[in-house]
Amino acid sequence: MKNLSAVWHPNTQMNDWNHFDKIVKGQGMWLIDSKGNKLLDGVASMWCNVWGHSKKELINEIIKQSKKIPHSSLFNLTNEPAEQLAKKLVKISPYMNHVFYSDNGSTAMEIAFKIALQYWKNLGIKNKNKLATLENGYHGDTFGAMSVGYIPEFFSKFKDQLFSTYQIPVPNKYRTPIGYSFSEYQKFCLEKIESLFSNNEKIAAFVMESGAQLAGGVIIYPPGFQKKISKLCKKYNVLLILDEIATGFGRLGSLVQYKVEDSIPDIVAYGKMLTGGYLTLGATLTTKKIYNTFLGKFHEMKHLFHGHTFTGNPIASAVANENLKLYEKTKLIKKIQNTSKIFEKRKTDFYQCDLVGDVRNKGMLMGIELVKNKEEKIPISTKTSINKIIFEMAKSNGIYLRTLGNIVMLVPPLAISSKELEFLIDRTILTINKIHKKYDF
Ligand SMILES: Cc1ncc(COP(=O)(O)O)c(C=O)c1O
Repeated sequence: MKNLSAVWHPNTQMNDWNHFDKIVKGQGMWLIDSKGNKLLDGVASMWCNVWGHSKKELINEIIKQSKKIPHSSLFNLTNEPAEQLAKKLVKISPYMNHVFYSDNGSTAMEIAFKIALQYWKNLGIKNKNKLATLENGYHGDTFGAMSVGYIPEFFSKFKDQLFSTYQIPVPNKYRTPIGYSFSEYQKFCLEKIESLFSNNEKIAAFVMESGAQLAGGVIIYPPGFQKKISKLCKKYNVLLILDEIATGFGRLGSLVQYKVEDSIPDIVAYGKMLTGGYLTLGATLTTKKIYNTFLGKFHEMKHLFHGHTFTGNPIASAVANENLKLYEKTKLIKKIQNTSKIFEKRKTDFYQCDLVGDVRNKGMLMGIELVKNKEEKIPISTKTSINKIIFEMAKSNGIYLRTLGNIVMLVPPLAISSKELEFLIDRTILTINKIHKKYDF
């Protein structure tokens, strides 16, 4: 074993890494390691950081709440920050009325699936017990989330243990199958959903990321796509579960993505940026109609069979409340809409790179797809990890990147300044050109 640390890192071939740089400090958008090197955080520390790493207001809120009560659960009790946050989340989330707390995105999605499946049982409808979803979606790493967001490269080792779901293809303009125009292919995907719903009474719910798929390769849905799915769900009495964990709270340029997609969910999950990325919190919201089916006499056993130790943690809830206040106070969404124009403007610079086949962006998100050859669109590949190659090169250029397969993802903290975003883009382009020179993909 080369690495002498006891820490086992996520999604990592530990044999490849001799050491991991130790981050000891955060300063605005920058991460600082134990040797004093500064890295601009190009992935918002796994897509959750909003304000940078030293936001005084959030840190103070954590200290303030810790002194009152650091943790008390929602089992038989409640607490003020969790109450306040639920009120606020319901206010900003159209159609939603109740909030179930957990402590990360995967569990927020597990709860969404359980609410949807138990909803039909509570109504006495036994055969609605299947979930349908979009291919390529990602909803977390727990078993339910892996079953629904089944990405073969990630999860094939567990396939035997996963429950079956129905998967519908997702339109990706760059990789539209031969023989279709992009609009024909969108129609094809929607017809598949309609055919599934109309021929299969078992579908309890349709699950999708709201606005775009991130982990599946930054696939931004074409305008109207999510709305049409929402309409099909209503038409065929299928619940719609929207995963806003990565796309809500400003990533795509709006506070609540499903609002701008003009879609009507029955269940919504939030996570990541809910606390500004400072503490771990998940929230699953649902409508009054669904919530009411969980009410009854105790012996009817209609209540939701779920609960986590840290459900409604007061510090996490308090920091989320402060975070949401700051969104309003600083007009963050407007700022994101302005700053993200830089992505649009700089797209052409990426296309100058020989390795870049496609650039997809929306709000404060950009996916840069690297290919061997622009005509044939064959993804770059190596026997070693592309992520590691790009990470090392990016680090030498002063930025922190985490690549997914052949897609370089730029997912910076939402409040990044124009100057820092330009820096991130310049250094990403430099990184792509340097790896092209150094490696034979
Ligand atoms: C859309 C989406 N859903 C769910 C999750 C899982 O969240 P967590 O990593 O907090 O469990 C992620 C994580 O990246 C995500 O992108």
